Amino acid sequence: MAFFKKSAGKKPDPAQLDLERLPRHVAIIMDGNGRWAKKRGLPRTAGHAAGAETFRTIATYAKNLGMDYLTVYAFSTENWKRPEQEVSAIMGLLEKYLHESIETMARDKIKMAFLGDLSPLSPKLQQLCRETEEISKGYEGFQANICLNYGGRDEIVRAAKAFAAQCAAGTADPAALTEEAFGRYLYSADIPDPDLIIRPSGEVRISNFLLWQSAYAEFYFTDVLWPDFSKEEFNRALAAYQNRSRRFGGV
Ligand code: FPP
Repeated sequence: MAFFKKSAGKKPDPAQLDLERLPRHVAIIMDGNGRWAKKRGLPRTAGHAAGAETFRTIATYAKNLGMDYLTVYAFSTENWKRPEQEVSAIMGLLEKYLHESIETMARDKIKMAFLGDLSPLSPKLQQLCRETEEISKGYEGFQANICLNYGGRDEIVRAAKAFAAQCAAGTADPAALTEEAFGRYLYSADIPDPDLIIRPSGEVRISNFLLWQSAYAEFYFTDVLWPDFSKEEFNRALAAYQNRSRRFGGV
């Protein structure tokens, strides 16, 4: 059964998506901000500001469509290698965004969580992250996850260390470890695996994003740069997802 009518050249219409078969969890690598700015003769930081606005648009749209989880890669463990001015611009945007979102989050009952090691962030940003998580922890429905100082390998190593420490203390048994049990040591402990991972900007790689969780995810790549990523482009990704046949290793 085709749930999306292929209409070459036409913009996909959400009415053509099967809202009963949406991915429960979509994850996005928000890539292409720098190139978007360069094309316009603007500083890279302007690209990140435009990217933050796109995040807002897409998160609101995902919530309104009825999705359960949206996870975005906002800052990786490798992004510290960028010029100091760019790093602080991204951190500044996150602060600004979190300040503003505390109000809208309460109004719209959006739950927010942060995946990553927040300890190297400024005390102010750490406090904002904690506050946001705290305020929204009782909300049910849509959840936005922001990966911040996040790396997939780092996450797995931390989980392995935590598990090994419990084994050494005698409170965990290596022989009894299962995939499901190991998953509970990850940042994503209470979050189902992503069904769909989107990477804009023409790059076709995973870049250390959700390595464990992406085992059976569907991937969608597009040349569109993240600041230009629209609701229509999101619909296209969802339509592509609905045309895939997911077998999880079966037939
Ligand atoms: C990758 O594009 C983007 C980032 C490393 C930063 C993403 C951060 C934001 C959009 C701002 C804050 C986020 C939220 C959730 C409010 P790039 O700089 O690698 O682009 P390029 O490959 O074109 O250079």
